[in-house]
Amino acid sequence: MKKKILFECIECGYQGPKYFGKCPQCDAWNTMTEVDAEKEKQDIDSVRIKPVKLSDIDNLEIKREITGLQEFDRVLGGGIVPDSIILIGGEPGVGKSTLLMEVSGILSKKNKKVLYYSGEESAVQIKLRANRLGVDSEDILLLTMGSLEDLKSAITEYKPDYLIIDSIQTINAKKGSMLPGSVSAMRFVTGEIIELAKRNHITGFIIGHITKEGHIAGPKTLEHMVDAVLYFQGEIKSDLRILRAEKNRFGAVDEIGIFQMTKDGLKPISDPSLVFLQQRETIEPGIALFPAMSGMRAILIEIQSLVTESPFAPNPRRICVGFDSYRMSMLISIIEKKLKLPFYKSDVFLNIAGGITLKEPAGDLSAAAALISSYKNKAVPQDLLIIGEVGLTGEVRPVSFVELRVKEGIRQGFSKFVVPAAQGNIGAALPSVDISLFPVENLYEFYKNITS
Ligand SMILES: Nc1ncnc2c1ncn2[C@@H]1O[C@H](COP(=O)(O)OP(=O)(O)O)[C@@H](O)[C@H]1O
Ligand SMILES: [Mg+2]
Repeated sequence: MKKKILFECIECGYQGPKYFGKCPQCDAWNTMTEVDAEKEKQDIDSVRIKPVKLSDIDNLEIKREITGLQEFDRVLGGGIVPDSIILIGGEPGVGKSTLLMEVSGILSKKNKKVLYYSGEESAVQIKLRANRLGVDSEDILLLTMGSLEDLKSAITEYKPDYLIIDSIQTINAKKGSMLPGSVSAMRFVTGEIIELAKRNHITGFIIGHITKEGHIAGPKTLEHMVDAVLYFQGEIKSDLRILRAEKNRFGAVDEIGIFQMTKDGLKPISDPSLVFLQQRETIEPGIALFPAMSGMRAILIEIQSLVTESPFAPNPRRICVGFDSYRMSMLISIIEKKLKLPFYKSDVFLNIAGGITLKEPAGDLSAAAALISSYKNKAVPQDLLIIGEVGLTGEVRPVSFVELRVKEGIRQGFSKFVVPAAQGNIGAALPSVDISLFPVENLYEFYKNITS
């Protein structure tokens, strides 16, 4: 039989029967490599689990391993699910190795055996980090710079409870013609590791690098193979780090864990509102604070806006960071139409402070308030929080979790709340402190009563 030839892009995993200088899927140059089609098929089939009767499966509840590193447990849905495989992606330097070394330390303190594979750092480097983090245990076994075969034999011999792979890109699958770090090699290695882990009841954490230049495709192609995918993000310059679940078979995906990177390691931040709000005496024009929902937590974030006279009118600049630009355009159009403010003459910038992204429409009215405030050069009252979605006719629509949002505001010392008219009756559900609710029907009513 003639051997079937297949070409694969090492960037995005595109496969086809023809060689291209430029990948037709991701447009990268010189990234196509030849792969063995038959072998590929075997690789994909490599995880074989025998069927069992549904009725034979024990009805036991999953007993999660609670690490006590609260922000980490939260993102996993309340602790680590035994025998699960978790992929952790993030840019180099964000703190993936740090996080997993800390977790290894915690687990080994609970008498769990941890096998830590590192293909990036020497044993001495890892030991130095462990010292810095205060991790010192006989139950953490290190394997550095090995091949897949070394790893498999270590797993079989040591039978760890937990396996850490740092990182999947660095494991060399000796056999075959696969390029280390290529998508097919990564898939093959991941498949082998998952099979071995599942068979031996090992819980695995797999680190995968992603880079700003869009090499996200690597770990992305592994997402369907694992139980949970977490992404660790943060500006390398700032010390804030956010862990979020992109996929979780055992928990919600909208929870985030917030950490501060310190020289002693990652410190969980349990009161995130304090991090995103800049402490200041007076609030400047252009700023509105908003209680955003993250999972089941409300977190106060700061929406910043700058509206300046544009040298480019009638094609002014419109730039958003952490906010959807179409949504901002929509808000600007509604403001122009309903409030008769000529924004077309202005450059408009909108930024969510702290490097986070606001996706909730519930923040519309707050964003609109920030825009109007900057345009008018008049600050939003300091003790006011604004909550509401804005519809195309300028109507203020009800939002989810309005009580939780207001409660977080009260906890942070706010006493005045603009809420959608339809939710003006939430007072009974709130703590009996002295606060004022201002229900508004539409943007115009808000503008007339609050900002004038
Ligand atoms: N001595 C130190 N003091 C404070 N922070 C440090 C120190 N060494 C490393 N870091 C922090 O750790 C980060 C690297 O973490 P690491 O876990 O190695 O990242 P990753 O594994 O994601 O590449 C650095 O960007 C820095 O923020
Ligand atoms: Mg690392």
